[in-house]
Amino acid sequence: MSSRLRAAGGGECTVGTLRGGREPAASVGRETQRGNHDRADPIPTIGRRSGRRGTAARASYVAQHRGSATANDRARVVMPGGNTRSVLHFDPFPFRVTSAADATLIDVDGHSYVDFCGNYTAGLPGHSPGLVRDAIIEALDQGWAVGATHNREIELAELVCERFASIEQVRFTNSGTEANLMAIGTALHHTGRTGVGVFDHAYHGGVLGFGDLDAEHHHPLNVPHRFIVAPFDDEAGLDGLFSDTDLGGVVIEAVQGSGGCRRAGPSSASGSSPT
Ligand SMILES: Cc1ncc(COP(=O)(O)O)c(C=O)c1O
Repeated sequence: MSSRLRAAGGGECTVGTLRGGREPAASVGRETQRGNHDRADPIPTIGRRSGRRGTAARASYVAQHRGSATANDRARVVMPGGNTRSVLHFDPFPFRVTSAADATLIDVDGHSYVDFCGNYTAGLPGHSPGLVRDAIIEALDQGWAVGATHNREIELAELVCERFASIEQVRFTNSGTEANLMAIGTALHHTGRTGVGVFDHAYHGGVLGFGDLDAEHHHPLNVPHRFIVAPFDDEAGLDGLFSDTDLGGVVIEAVQGSGGCRRAGPSSASGSSPT
């Protein structure tokens, strides 16, 4: 995925390639073990173009983002990489946002950007939409983190179950990573098996990231399950995955975001549960 961002001051930059690009499928059903130590994906960079134009673009970016540079130095002291998730980093340092509304981001140096990233699709309604803001304020007015059961959780669970025919019950979690960890743990516990099927370049959370099919290791922070990595959207690969008699579950994205906005065809997607 890449996003084109234009600074109001005249500077223009491209933010990308976020773990994009397909790699040739080298083998089917590669298994990964505990103790992964390599990065699955490169850190995205800005102005990676080689040559004078790239150098000039980089120098121009640095000159126009002095406030962001200072904030980045400060952030790196107290947060690894100076951010809350590494996907937000790009070289030489990311611009730091002070406010966001609709499709506009404003950074600490006063630049205004048109945001095509939309928080990696999670923020498609735009920034700070009034309806969502009002609903949050109304809910906060009635107290939060009550440490007890609440009617609102029933309302939300009912809405989700009504909307998706395949969902009978909901367990709320704090993040997508936690949801997937719970789902995997439940599947393995329920089946009494150990294998977890995933696909190349899948991203299921901060501790569930996968790279090339033939990678020796995937994300260094992955949880130590016995993952079997199959080629995405490939029927033979899927057959290989399901031939493992100790397979406890398969996690699949109907559309891979980090893997380059790849869609799973109907035959691949129907055999497992989308995250
Ligand atoms: C497909 C997919 N699964 C899981 C996650 C992890 O969600 P969270 O960041 O809430 O842990 C993400 C986050 O981007 C995602 O895109």
